[in-house]
Formats: sequence, structure tokens, C-alpha cells
Amino acid sequence: MPTVTIHPTGEVIYLEPGETVLSGLYKAGFAYTVGCRRGGCAICKVDCRSGQFRYDHPVADTVLTEDEHLDGTCLTCRAVPDTDITIELRGENVRLVNTFLHMINDKARQRAEANAAARLMAGTTPKEQ
Ligand code: FES
Repeated sequence: MPTVTIHPTGEVIYLEPGETVLSGLYKAGFAYTVGCRRGGCAICKVDCRSGQFRYDHPVADTVLTEDEHLDGTCLTCRAVPDTDITIELRGENVRLVNTFLHMINDKARQRAEANAAARLMAGTTPKEQ
């Protein structure tokens, strides 16, 4: 279960496998500037400070330049983390708009941490189960 950490607040969001960064932000009760939600407007860009992500759908060169593909620019509505990632929002702070969803995401984090600890104790990895 990859995580998204928001710099500098330190908020941690837990994603389901294959889930986009933007979906995770909204699912965890946060609001962020969004437009088309399908990789066409470039409004949802953030900076990825660490970690790896991929795009499961093509992203046009008019939305992300070649340099942006290399410099950590992350199109949140299309980016699917392969590892835990840390992002920094552009020009605004993350806003918590739904505390109930935030609590659900926090429970998911607690379950994931408990499962990871149990696997560690048992000496197994998720694929071995
Ligand atoms: S919301 Fe339009 S590109 Fe992400």
C-alpha cells in the first residue's frame, strides 16, 4: 500500500494499489486545485520530492514537458505511485475539508502498519502470504 506524504505538513495518505495521487488526496478528505481530472489541463501538478510514480495512461507533451518528466513534476490526477512518495503542493497548502474521510484514511494507515508489523514478525512478505 503506497503512501503519499505531503511536505511540509507531514500528512500521510494511504493509497490502494493502482490509485492516483489525486484520488488519494480526495479520498483522505483533502482538497487540492483540480481541473479536468484526466491529464488534460495541467492544473493538478505538484513536485515529487522523493519516491517513484508512473502514468498508466499517456500524458500529452503539452501537459508535461520533457523537462517536467525528468524534474519530479507530478501530474496528480494521472500519477500512480510505485513506492512511497513525498510531494510538495504548488502555491497552496493542503486543506482538510472532510474530517470523516480523514479518519477513515487514518484507520487504513493503522491497519496497514499493523499488517506490516505482523508480516515482519512472521518473516513473510506480502507476496508470500
Ligand atoms: S486535473 Fe487536469 S491534468 Fe490533472
